[in-house]
Amino acid sequence: MKQHIKHLYEISNKTRRHIIGLMSGTSLDGLDVALCAFEGSGLNTRVELLQFETIGYDDAFRLEIRKVFAKKEVDFQHFTLLNVLVAERHAALVNQCLASWDINPAEVDLLASHGQTVFHAPRVFHGMPEYPNATLQIGDGDHLAMRTGIITISDFRQKHVAAGGEGAPLALYGDYFLFGKRGEDRFLLNMGGIANFTWLPGDGDMGRSFATDTGPGNTLLDVFAQELFGQPFDKDAGLALKGRVHERLLFLLKQDPFFEKPFPKTIGPELFSPAWVKSAIIRLRGETIDPHDIMATLTRLTADTITEALCRVRPPSSNLPATTLYLSGGGAHNQLIVKYLSQSLKGWQIQPMEVLGIPGDAKEAVLFAGLANETVSGDATQKSVLGGLPVVGMGKISFPG
Ligand SMILES: Nc1ncnc2c1ncn2[C@@H]1O[C@H](COP(=O)(O)OP(=O)(O)O)[C@@H](O)[C@H]1O
Ligand SMILES: [Mg+2]
Repeated sequence: MKQHIKHLYEISNKTRRHIIGLMSGTSLDGLDVALCAFEGSGLNTRVELLQFETIGYDDAFRLEIRKVFAKKEVDFQHFTLLNVLVAERHAALVNQCLASWDINPAEVDLLASHGQTVFHAPRVFHGMPEYPNATLQIGDGDHLAMRTGIITISDFRQKHVAAGGEGAPLALYGDYFLFGKRGEDRFLLNMGGIANFTWLPGDGDMGRSFATDTGPGNTLLDVFAQELFGQPFDKDAGLALKGRVHERLLFLLKQDPFFEKPFPKTIGPELFSPAWVKSAIIRLRGETIDPHDIMATLTRLTADTITEALCRVRPPSSNLPATTLYLSGGGAHNQLIVKYLSQSLKGWQIQPMEVLGIPGDAKEAVLFAGLANETVSGDATQKSVLGGLPVVGMGKISFPG
């Protein structure tokens, strides 16, 4: 064991560290694998993305996860098996990437694994004041370390909860370190299954910076594309573009108290589920809605709830300097969402994340690699505060032996 500690200490002291970030979000589309080179830490962090790939999950694996995903009741044996199965599958995908990139695992210092979220239960969702915020990711780090031979840092979200947060969005830390810029007010919007943004004020005032979820990103689009059209997602908004927004349904959906709650807040598909949409449709008293219109309405819901959340921080009438919105996540490929955002955020500059040097699809995996970089070489002290919480080193360390 001493040898492992020594190795970790050496990694911590390196001027350049190779870290692979792994991300599998609520969309269950696949595993994002980002090989990054990091120099420095904290506000002096520099990152270079060396390789990136998203490896799509096959239907059978997605179905396995769906059996437990966001479900209040599950087969506990299956759940226990999945904790290992997800890790084994992720490790195999990492090994596959390394082979295709012609990189020896010994050249990689750390593996930063997000795992697969199976349940996200902040108080704002479960509503029981006597119970804490909680979130659960599976795909155990020990299995990743043993199967790849790389020191693995995993399960980042628990420390955030322990420090008083909801375990999400963790993007704030990496966004602040890597993309904060004096003189430019920035919003970094990531549209995964759930949409979230990070607010980076141009005056560098750490105290005002925060990250929050806004509500659904692609999650409802994905489940209804599957349910109504047998497609895993609404590619290029092809389905929504054939429909019309059902204004009354849109109005009912927007009445959910989550949208009014103060920032920062987080949520998951546990709330924004097919049942949530269907209960609003029932309130339309027997009216049937064309499937394409459902897609159009849900696409508009995603865009509107994002816009309304952003405008709460930066009201459209304000005379403040130009604001830039950087887009990442799979939703940035949905041209209808992007069109709605540009129409309603008049005066804002809207840019793809690539402009800041990191492709939008890779951003979250890079950020988790960044959290691992902080854990081994940052100097987080509980004295610094970001987004109202102490800055803490996140993740658990697993040695490959
Ligand atoms: N060309 C596209 N058109 C529309 N939606 C897309 C497109 N490409 C990706 N997406 C959406 O992005 C989702 C994946 O986004 P991602 O950022 O990986 O989310 P997560 O972090 O939840 O895994 C897909 O499920 C799909 O809904
Ligand atoms: Mg994904």
